[in-house]
Parts: sequence; structure tokens; C-alpha cells
Amino acid sequence: MSPMDQADPRRNADVASALREAEEHYVAANPKSQAQHRAALAAMPGGNTRTAIFYTPFPLTMARGAAQHLWDLDGHRYVDFLGEFTAGLYGHSHPVIRAALDAALDGGISFGAHGALEAQFAAAIVARFPSIELVRFTNSGTEANLMALVTARAVTGRSKVLVFDGAYHGGVFYFRGKPAPINAPFAFVIAPYNDAAATLALIERHADDLAAIIVEPMLGSGGCIPAEPAFLAALRASATRVGALLVFDEVMTSRLAPGGLQQATGVLPDLTTLGKYIGGGMSFGAFGGRADIMERYDPRRADAFPHAGTFNNNVLTMSAGLAGLTRVYTAEAAEALNARGDRLRARLNALTRDRGLAMQFTGLGSMLQVHMCAGALRSPADAARGDAALRDLFFFDLVARGHWLAKRGMAALSLMVTEADCDALAGAVEEFVATRGALLGQRVGA
Ligand SMILES: Cc1ncc(COP(=O)(O)O)c(C=O)c1O
Repeated sequence: MSPMDQADPRRNADVASALREAEEHYVAANPKSQAQHRAALAAMPGGNTRTAIFYTPFPLTMARGAAQHLWDLDGHRYVDFLGEFTAGLYGHSHPVIRAALDAALDGGISFGAHGALEAQFAAAIVARFPSIELVRFTNSGTEANLMALVTARAVTGRSKVLVFDGAYHGGVFYFRGKPAPINAPFAFVIAPYNDAAATLALIERHADDLAAIIVEPMLGSGGCIPAEPAFLAALRASATRVGALLVFDEVMTSRLAPGGLQQATGVLPDLTTLGKYIGGGMSFGAFGGRADIMERYDPRRADAFPHAGTFNNNVLTMSAGLAGLTRVYTAEAAEALNARGDRLRARLNALTRDRGLAMQFTGLGSMLQVHMCAGALRSPADAARGDAALRDLFFFDLVARGHWLAKRGMAALSLMVTEADCDALAGAVEEFVATRGALLGQRVGA
């Protein structure tokens, strides 16, 4: 019996005690993960090497995955609705990806030379994303953004970079809340997301020294908040006017349409960065775009920019990425997965709307995020109205029910998640709103 079955709503008259009880259950159910966390403290700060996956009282340690499932150290099985924060689009050990990795391993993995697959993989990316005429590979999305921004600074001869409040572009580009003290030491101008008037005013003010405007066409870790098409179009026009490069960070959003959100919105950036699932589950990043900019990386040129990277063309990523993009996540597969996500989000939103609850799911296609508040969500400031403790309670309740998602309430469907899994998730959300409904705020006017 799950804690939700046992929960007596009358005992949980307030969110704090409900959350305390859910955490107590979590601790009792996961002794091996707790022991693993304690052991990890000896060699890693906080026992952690990736801040996004840490949470208190201690994070679960997963022992293995297969298809759409994960098993933790204590033997609980989960349907993996997190999909590795969008990178796990192919699920666990997809047979085509697995075969591509096996084939790469059979051929040896470190050549210190060009391999045969990287040109095919690059061609598949160029064919897929409308604004990418030439592309270069990196090892992560962070590195891809670093390369895009230093490229913009070098070709424009300017220094400033306009970013958006609530954005996340990697480990050294953190703008959720206060910018991180360890951010790359660029001169950042921070603008409000989806606010064209205020952003355009900032662009004008810094026009002479603005190298780049970098934007996620939907804020991913910032709450799955889509950019309004008119906002993106305004950025495009303004970047062109002042001579700054427009960079779309499509590390997460490239999966939301066959050619990414640039294709879906029709707004084409000068440079695009990619990452996550495109490497087929292996370490991956890429930056690409207008040929006249990317040609600066042609090593045959006397004035070429150098861009090294031991693992840029590592054969595991090249092989898995090529197989995934050309044989698994085809344009048709992308349409189908995103349609499934749209249906799921609509269904979850209907559950909370019908009850007049201050709870909603944002996102596009196969990416979604729960927010414990009502009303339009156009910016991280709007999302900050959500009740964080209730969102934590949602996480612990869903984990107890066997559904794995991010602690902050984000989910990304993999190709392995079935319609039945979506039904089960909707059932768990329905149970959450039934058992915890008294704790959830009512929408004004509901
Ligand atoms: C929009 C966006 N850009 C960049 C990154 C950084 O990618 P990576 O974790 O591969 O460095 C992320 C990672 O979550 C992301 O969501």
C-alpha cells in the first residue's frame, strides 16, 4: 500500500506536515539510497557531481534502466517520465541505439583522427534544422553555448551578451534567480523573458557593444515556459538591426518539432546550439548556423579560429547519434511523440481545471512541468508564484507511486513511454488532486 493510500487528509491539515510525512515515508523506503548518499559524501561535495539531480533529504540512486523503466538501489521500479531531462529521448537501451554502440565498440573507440561517421552525422543535423548550414561538435550543451558565444564575440568584435532571466544555458550560464557566481565572465545584460518592449529597450541601450542575444525558444529548466512567437520575431528583427547574432539554445527544444522550435516558429537564428538526446544518450553538444560564420572554423583558412576537443568526434556519440536521428527519431516519430505529450498535458490540465485548483502543467509537446499556481505563466516571475512545498509534495507522492520525474516537477517523455504509462501517470495525478486537494489553492473565480 502506498503512502497516498494510507494518507488521512484530515491529519495533513497543512502542507508542511503533509510534506514531512511524505519525506519520512521516502526515508524509510530507501535505506540503500541513503547509505549510498552517505558513502558518496566522502569523496564528492554533498556526495554529488551534478547539482541538478541533488535534493534533500537525499537523492535516489538508480541501479539500472530498461526500456521506459528505472530501478533504484532499494528495488523499486519507476516509469521514467524524466527521460534524463530530455537527453533520454530514446529510453533505456533502445535496440537501434544499442546496436549502433555495439558496432562502434567493435571497431575501436579512439582513433585520434577523422572517423567515417562524423560527416554523416553532421549532414543529418544540417538536413534537419533549417538555420544550420554548417555544424561543429562539442561534448556538452554547456560547451556548445560557450563556443557559440565566443564565436559571436569574435566575429562581431563586441563583448556583451544579452540573456534572459530564468534561462539556463549550462554549468557556467545559470540565470535562474540570481546569476551564479561561477558564470562565465562575460558582460551579461539580463532581460525579462517574453517581454519584447523591455528587451528591445535593453538591446537599443547596449546596441554598440552587443555581440549576441541568446535565448531558449522555450525556457526548459526555467519552468517549460514557451516563448511567444511575436517575442522571438522581435528578437530576430532587433538583432539584425543592431548587428548582434541571435543564438537559439535548442539543447532541449530541438526535440519539440522535426526541425526544432526554429522550424515550428519560423524564426531562424544565426547560430543554434544542440545537445542532450541528439547524441543518442552519449555525451554531446553542437553549435552551428550560418555558413559565413561557421566557415571561420575552416582549418584551411589562414585566419581560422581554432576549435579543438579530444572527444568532439568520439565514435560512440557519432554512431549512436547518427542512428538515433536518422533511424529512430525521424520527423514522423517527432510529430507522434510531441502529439502524445500534447494530449497528456491537456488531460492533466483538465484534471486540475475541472476541480478549480491552482495547479497546472506548462510546456510544449513531449516536455511538461507542473506549477502549483493558476493564471497565465509567461515568465519565471509568474512561475515563482507557485507553491514550492506543494511541488515537493507532488514529487514525493509520485515517486511513491512509481513515477520518476524531476524534483522540480519537470517531465520529458521518451519514445519508450507507452499510452498505458501516460494513463497511469494521469491516474496518479488524479489521486494527488483527490487526496491533496484540500491543500491546493483554488483558482480565483473557480
Ligand atoms: C537549454 C539548455 N542549454 C544548455 C544545457 C547544458 O547542457 P549540458 O548539460 O549538456 O552541458 C542545458 C542542460 O540542461 C539546457 O537545458
